[in-house]
Order: sequence, then structure tokens, then C-alpha cells
Amino acid sequence: MQHTEFTQGLEAPNPQWFILFGATGDLAKRKLYPALYSLYRNRLLPEPFALAGVARGAMDDGQFRELVREWVDKHGRRPATSGDWEGFAARVFYCPLDANRPEDFDRLRARIDQLARSVGDPPNRVFYLAMAPDFFGKVALQLKARGLLHERGFKRLIIEKPFGHDLASAHKLNSELYQVFEESEIYRIDHYLGKEMVQNIEVIRFANSIFEPVWNNRSIANVQITSSETVGVEERAGYYESAGALRDMVQNHMLQMVMMVAMEPPSRLHTEAIRDEKVKVLRSLRRYTADEAANHVVRGQYLAGAIGGAPVPGYREEPGVKPDSRTETFVAARLFIDNFRWAGVPFYIRTGKRMALKSTEIVIQFRNMPEHLYFNEDGTLGPNLLVIRVNPVEGMYLQLNAKRPGTEGDVVPVAMEFSQPRDSSPEAYERLLYEAMRGDSTYFTRWDEVSLAWKLVDPMAEAFADERVPLSTYPAGSWGPEEARRLPAADGFWWWPVYGEETPSVEHMLVRRYAQVL
Ligand code: BG6
Repeated sequence: MQHTEFTQGLEAPNPQWFILFGATGDLAKRKLYPALYSLYRNRLLPEPFALAGVARGAMDDGQFRELVREWVDKHGRRPATSGDWEGFAARVFYCPLDANRPEDFDRLRARIDQLARSVGDPPNRVFYLAMAPDFFGKVALQLKARGLLHERGFKRLIIEKPFGHDLASAHKLNSELYQVFEESEIYRIDHYLGKEMVQNIEVIRFANSIFEPVWNNRSIANVQITSSETVGVEERAGYYESAGALRDMVQNHMLQMVMMVAMEPPSRLHTEAIRDEKVKVLRSLRRYTADEAANHVVRGQYLAGAIGGAPVPGYREEPGVKPDSRTETFVAARLFIDNFRWAGVPFYIRTGKRMALKSTEIVIQFRNMPEHLYFNEDGTLGPNLLVIRVNPVEGMYLQLNAKRPGTEGDVVPVAMEFSQPRDSSPEAYERLLYEAMRGDSTYFTRWDEVSLAWKLVDPMAEAFADERVPLSTYPAGSWGPEEARRLPAADGFWWWPVYGEETPSVEHMLVRRYAQVL
């Protein structure tokens, strides 16, 4: 599949101020400025556009612009090239603010009012809170109290995960936000929903007549969703120690992918119709009690090992991690969606840090052909697979069976691979920022999704906390704890290798995998 640049048929959003809290933080540096600059280059920012970067440190606009330029050069898919850069930078301003000091919000307001004279005064305001969630409620209330919401224009709030630590804290946070913003004005980011191939799932499903009729428990044996990373906890131990893989990845990204695969066709391709169908999946997902979780959920923590041949420390040796930490860096689970379409089909999910490869993939494994019949007399004919590759390549892979050319009845798996490296496709954040600025919340998380996801995850977290689900270990650079292999194996399945995972040949792999299970 060929990528085209993210411009075709798209219009620039209405003029608006983009007010970014956490302007010198990691997310802003690595994702937001590169995405905004890319949008600018594609003429997809509002005209006029004005960005107010808000953070604690003291600096002037010039210093801030220099920093933003460095970050775009370092992390962007396109470096800041001078001509275009000047135009972008001229719209970037810096406003120091301590979120604990209400009077600083007055200063911010005065600064925006003053700048409005030179850059135009769009009354529309988008506030992006790229900061610790503890501040979300506080900042939202101050925006209102200190008059930063312009009564003539629209107001929107973009916030990052984690949205709460559990259902109770998410509720509290939400009710604070609701004092200032309505649900339709809140854009909760799950950046997986901005990924090209995650958005493509509905197109693959609903634009191809060969898939929808078989997209159910009569034809599908199981679904596997992997999101593996090679990085460790990096500099985020403070956050990660209390989050772990369950809250960091499962509650949001992994469940979003489950929803996209499993949802019913929406009545129309409209935001709320799509989100309604996704929510129904969450409602049908079987909720395990903390006791049941032990049969369906595995958690692990990485030990020292090697990634790409280089030694790496174990999780407990990472800076900022407690030497006796029980935080999980890996989770695998077997989920069931108890509705007519999916009853009986296991959805296996797994995610972890310091695994063998960086990969995000969704495998749809179709049912086997009947045994003792024709080409499957010995029962070793491989199943058909449809693999949706999200990262590091994007595209699809379809595995079929066919006769080996030149033989009489030798049946072999043949692979149709339609994937390409994802370097050229726009970053998830480009899409999401653009969509939020345009006012399209389809690929953002609605409150009922968040709360239902917590209802599913909270009992698992409880079972982790009191060790009803034991903490396994795995060497860095592996595919997770042995217990994770046993999850599908107990049902007669196995994890299919992801793109780039060493597989001598598909045929060989099938034989090897069958041997493992039998
Ligand atoms: C983030 C998590 O949401 O997603 C990180 O907080 C994780 O821990 C990241 O590394 C993975 O995203 P991606 O796009 O690299 O798969």
C-alpha cells in the first residue's frame, strides 16, 4: 500500500489559539512540535495560527523558538527547513506559568490578549494538557475562573492518558473536567487510534466483501493482538512504578484495538455511531473477578538480558525503580466477548517492555479445514491468517494454502504481504491534532469507554496487587514469561510470530509450532 502525504482533500481548521501546557515536557518535544510543524508544512494548521507554549521555566519567545526548532530537528520526520520554519516560528510564543499559582493564569490571559493584537484574535481556543494528570482538574478550573475561555468562540480540551488510576479516580477527574467542559469538548487521546493501520481496520473490514461475512465465530478461531517494545522503562520510572503495563497499555491501547476488530458495523460512519459500537464491545467483554483473573491473565517483569546483542539491566536495576518492585512490565490475557458474533472466540492480547522486537500486530486466525479430508488428512494443514501490521511496517499479510508448483499434491502456505515501512506515513499525533483542531472526535476516547475499560481492568489490578495473579519474570529480549505461551497453548493455539521474528520459513514454522502444541 502506497502512502500519500496527509493533505489530500483536507482543509485547514478554523482559526484558533493552541495553548499547550507542558510545553517543555517529553511529549511536547518528541511528538507535538514535530506534528504541528508537519501540519504547518502541509498547510493544515489554521490561518492565522498561534501557539502559546506554557511551562514553569523562565525564557523568552526567542529562546523557546530555538528549543522548539532543536526538538523538531531531532524528533520530527522532517527537519525544520529555514524558509518554512520562520513562518511557523513567528506564530510560536512562550508563557511561563506555575499551575499552582492562580495569578499566573491572569498573566497568561493578559499575554494572550496582548498577542492577539499582532496575530489576530481568534476567539476559539484549544487547550492541550501535556502534563501530569493531577493537574488536569486544577488547570481546567483555573481556565474558567481566570477568564481564559472566550465566550464567543469554541473551547476544547485535549488530554493525555492516563485518565485516572482506576475507576474511582477517573470518575473524580471527569467530574472536575465536566465543571468546565462538556463531553463533546473533551478530546481524550489514545494515540493508537491515530495510527494509520488502526484507523484502517474499519476500512479493511467494511470495504471488502470477502471479510465481513467471515468476521465471526463461525470462521474465526482466535484473535491475537501483540504490542511489544524493546525499550525499558526509560526515564519514566516515577510514573511507571504505579502504572505498570496493565494501566499503561492494556486499559487503553490494547482494548482500543480489541474494539476496532470486534465492533459491529456502525449504522453510519459518524463519530457517535462508531463510538457507540465500540462501547458495546466493552460492555460484552467478559469481566473477570479478581479470582478468575488468575486463569486468564499473566503478568511478568523483565530481568537482565540482551536486546539486539547488547546487554540491558533488569527492571529492578533501572534508575528510580524500587529494588523489590512488583510492578509488571508485561501482561498477557485471554479475553472473551460474549455476544453472538464472538461467543467462544478467544482474544489473546500481550504487551510488554524489553521484549525481543518492537512490534504491533493483530492476527486473525481462521478455523482449520476439516481433518481427515482431502488435503488435511493428517491434520497439519495450516490455517488461514489475516495479519494487520501496525508497526514497524504497515499493511496486511494474508496466509493461504496452495499447491507447491511442480508437485502433485504438496500443499504449502503461501504468503501475500502488502506491507511497507512506516517512515513515510504521518505520525499518529499529526492526525489526532488535526482532528481535534477540526472538531472531529471519532478517534478519541469517550467517557463511557474510559469507565468501562476501568471496570474490566480494576479487578485484574486487584488480583495483581494481592498476588492472586503471580508475578512471573522473563529475560529482557525474550517474548515474555513462559506462562504467556501457555495461555493460547491451553486452547490448542500458539502466538504467531510477528513481522521480523526469526522464522526460517512459514512451512517450517507451522511444523515447529504444531510440534510445540502436540
Ligand atoms: C504509551 C505508553 O502510551 O505508548 C508507553 O505510555 C509506550 O509506555 C507507548 O512506550 C508505546 O507507543 P508506540 O506508539 O511506540 O507503540
